[in-house]
Amino acid sequence: MEDPRNRQYSNGEITVFWKPSKCIHATTCFRELLEVFNPGRRPWVNMQGAPTRKIIEVVNKCPTQALEWKYNRDMDPEMLAVNDKGKEEVTPETIKEEKKSKGNARINIMKNGPIVVEGNFEVTGTEGSKLKKMQMTSFCRCGGSNSMPYCDGTHRKIGFIDTDSQ
Ligand code: SF4
Ligand code: FES
Repeated sequence: MEDPRNRQYSNGEITVFWKPSKCIHATTCFRELLEVFNPGRRPWVNMQGAPTRKIIEVVNKCPTQALEWKYNRDMDPEMLAVNDKGKEEVTPETIKEEKKSKGNARINIMKNGPIVVEGNFEVTGTEGSKLKKMQMTSFCRCGGSNSMPYCDGTHRKIGFIDTDSQ
C-alpha cells in the first residue's frame, strides 16, 4: 500500500516525488539547493526556488531515491491532479528525529542502490580503525563510489541494477 506520507510537488514542467520512508537524511538535497529543499519550511519543497534543470540535477543526487522526478508530459493525468496542498508533511528533519528514537541498528538493502544502516553503530575500517559513529548512513553496493565505503550516488550515474531485478 502507498505510504500516506508520500508527497508530490510540481512546477508545471516536472513533478518531484518525495518518499519519506526512503530518506536516510543524507542532507544532499538541502546542502545543494536550500532554495528548493528546505526542511524548516512547509511545504518543505518549493518548486519555484530554482530552474527545472537545477532541480533535476539535485534530485538525481539523492542516494536512496527518496526524491525522484518525472516530466509532467509523461505522467498519467490522474497522478498530475493529485493535490497535497494543506496536508501535514514530514521532512528529512522529522524523519531523522523519528529514527533517532528507535534505538537498534537496522539494515536495508535499497533496490538498485546502497545498503542503508540506521540506528546506533560504529564503522570499523580495514585496518581496524574506527571510521565513524553514526545514526545512519549508506554504504556503496555498486562498487563505483568515489568516497568508499560510502554511497555517493554514483550507482545512478552508472545504471547499477540488481541482478535479481532485471
Ligand atoms: S536521502 Fe534524499 S531526501 Fe533524504 S536528505 Fe538525502 S537527498 Fe534529501
Ligand atoms: S551504491 Fe551508491 S555509489 Fe555505489
